[in-house]
Amino acid sequence: MRIVRTVEEAGSLGECVLVPTMGFLHEGHAALIRQGVAEASRRGLGGGCVVSIFVNPSQFNDPGDFARYPRELARDVAVCEACGARAVFAPDEGEMYPSEEAAPWVPVPAVGREPRLEEVGRPGHFEGVCRVLDRLFRVVRARAAVFGEKDYQQLCLARALVAQQGLGTEIVAGATVRERDGLAMSSRNVHLSEAGRVRARALSRALRAAQRCSTPAHAERVMWDMLWSAGIARIEYAAVRRADTLMPFADGEWARTAGRALVCAFVDGTRLLDNMAWGVAGGVSSAEAP
Ligand code: PAF
Repeated sequence: MRIVRTVEEAGSLGECVLVPTMGFLHEGHAALIRQGVAEASRRGLGGGCVVSIFVNPSQFNDPGDFARYPRELARDVAVCEACGARAVFAPDEGEMYPSEEAAPWVPVPAVGREPRLEEVGRPGHFEGVCRVLDRLFRVVRARAAVFGEKDYQQLCLARALVAQQGLGTEIVAGATVRERDGLAMSSRNVHLSEAGRVRARALSRALRAAQRCSTPAHAERVMWDMLWSAGIARIEYAAVRRADTLMPFADGEWARTAGRALVCAFVDGTRLLDNMAWGVAGGVSSAEAP
């Protein structure tokens, strides 16, 4: 497996499937990388699966958060190799952002500007995500890129961005990997205390309960109630939306349009995200079905 540091080397890897990450890889990332490897081989792409590891300063609202973000390149490289990746692209900031001209800020598609979801707690975050993804998709010759459903709004944003910029990269969704108790895997879970870990189960339980409700309003009320009852006081959002645009449903629309239930809440001061398919038309998978 190759480790490349420059944009020039990344461009010479050949057509590939990209798995964009910020490192500190866990089992959820490993599943995305294995999926990327399988996709690349199915498509017969010479570049195989390429994993990018870049802690992107432009998507952090808080510089302290960026400085504290864990970096463990040697361990991450070992994970990528074990999963069958062909290369790791680990640029520094100068390579990624040499100038505004080489790495311009691009307009954030509507799905990333919805003010009541990620924008509540991370204003401007998606501007940085769009900038880095636009740069990555142009530098690495990615025919496809794998994004986890765990960050569902980001997955929708990536799809909208490639369409907006005419990038020709197909966005492939990877299912959320869960701990045995249902908690969605995340690099942030290490910050949870034992008691916090127990409280955090309420997120996936609330989502499953929402799947049993027949209207978005009822599902939202049930999620808020369950999170409160579990002692989770800081809830950023618990919402049921159209799965494609992430906008609220128009009256009755949920009977024929796929939905997504999404939650974001703080446990032990750690911001946790989760989501599941919702609704009759939501394609609730057997793995997610209550
Ligand atoms: O989800 C992440 O790890 C990041 O937002 C991404 C997609 C790698 C962009 O920096």
